[in-house]
Amino acid sequence: MDLSRRAFLQSTLAGAALTGLPFAAQASTGHTLKAQKSVQQVLPDKYPPTDVWSYNGQIPGPVLRVKQGETFSARFENGLDVDSSIHWHGIRVPNNMDGVPFITQDPVKPNDHFDYQFVAKDAGTFWYHPHLNSAEQVDRGLSGVLIVEEADPIDVDAELIWMLDDWRLGEDGKLIEDYQNLHDKAHGGRLGNVTAVNGSYNPTFDVENGARVRLRLINSSNARLYTPIIPDQSAWVIAFDGQPITPKKLEKGMLRLGPGMRADIIVDISHGTDTPLQVLDQTYRGDPVKLAQLKVKGSGKSRTSPPPILAPNPLSVPDLANAERKSVVYEGGAMGRLASAKLNGTTDMPLRDLAQQKGLVWATNGNAYASLMDLEKADRLFKLNLGKSYIFSLTNKSAWIHPIHLHGHTYQLLSRNGKKLDTPMWQDTVLIYPNETVEVAFVADNPGDWMFHCHILDHAASGMIAAIAVG
Ligand code: C2O
Ligand code: CU
Repeated sequence: MDLSRRAFLQSTLAGAALTGLPFAAQASTGHTLKAQKSVQQVLPDKYPPTDVWSYNGQIPGPVLRVKQGETFSARFENGLDVDSSIHWHGIRVPNNMDGVPFITQDPVKPNDHFDYQFVAKDAGTFWYHPHLNSAEQVDRGLSGVLIVEEADPIDVDAELIWMLDDWRLGEDGKLIEDYQNLHDKAHGGRLGNVTAVNGSYNPTFDVENGARVRLRLINSSNARLYTPIIPDQSAWVIAFDGQPITPKKLEKGMLRLGPGMRADIIVDISHGTDTPLQVLDQTYRGDPVKLAQLKVKGSGKSRTSPPPILAPNPLSVPDLANAERKSVVYEGGAMGRLASAKLNGTTDMPLRDLAQQKGLVWATNGNAYASLMDLEKADRLFKLNLGKSYIFSLTNKSAWIHPIHLHGHTYQLLSRNGKKLDTPMWQDTVLIYPNETVEVAFVADNPGDWMFHCHILDHAASGMIAAIAVG
């Protein structure tokens, strides 16, 4: 589609939205995602399947693709008996397409639908998930991958898309439905007892010897972090959170993905035996965890040159010299020092009461928000000026790791504990370790109210959410 036609279409669509004209014609050309109950074989075959919630009966939901610069549209149909929505994680959408109930749209009721549409500005690996009671809805299986293809993709022989998720299951295959428990909230969040790739424990993928594979990893877990190991292969990380980086050799322990985060990896397959290659995770103490196996066939020779650099996305580079500074302090959780916090930004309450009466154990700059509905009515954490650059210093005064995610923007990670990164990293979610301060910078170039929260979904459900206003 040429530019003038695209501009024309956008302006007619904007006009249609303003005058309330239906735009069913556009929606029908897009994707349909129906949230529904279904079953999934998460555990090995000798165990029973698991009752899950999914998009279109698939775990993960369908892989959606759009070319960079083109218009993406999807109709969300709610086939569940609870309200829901879809958020497009990492995508810089117009505010009313961000999928956050009470903040950017009304909740989508059972049997109702909502049409999402936006121009995909940035190429990369993104994902979608509900943004209402996410600690339960995402955990039950609602998540999927959205790939925005580069205008000029790099040459590979195969692509693998791995959604990393963990499940808390009984031997009967059923989800242990202990959602909203204070222990998970006050610690590292709801960790599962079974790790899965694309909804199954340690699945096998076929690849050819010599193939250059683009592996897209997406962490859709509530709380689990991943530090992948691909034994004895030449591998490079080429993008992080969807944003291109100068290819970096994947060394053991180098790449850590918190909840919500993604990485694109190029693997040049070279494996001499029939035993499948076991891809592992080593994040926590104890034995490495099995993620997935690669069954390698053929005798092709792998490439020797490192992969090329992907073209950068059209992100606004922050003007650090003139940026305004803001500081954000996260406190709470078990073994923390938080004594009290302001419930929904108003009444100061001792932590004990917040926890026992409201199930809240976390605070952002001293505020604990009970829900998106409460957040809607509260003051914004910051009001930012459209087009201005900001440096946020984010301090974790707790004993737990937090992946902090900002909607509608992509920030540059500048430093950790005062130590500058050699090259700032574009990320939409940044891990902050206990007692660490990180600095992120961005241009507030997308107007609207944007969520700014921990992506350990059980932390978000227990106070660790906030919103900033850009305007
Ligand atoms: Cu991945 Cu506020 O979300
Ligand atoms: Cu957290």
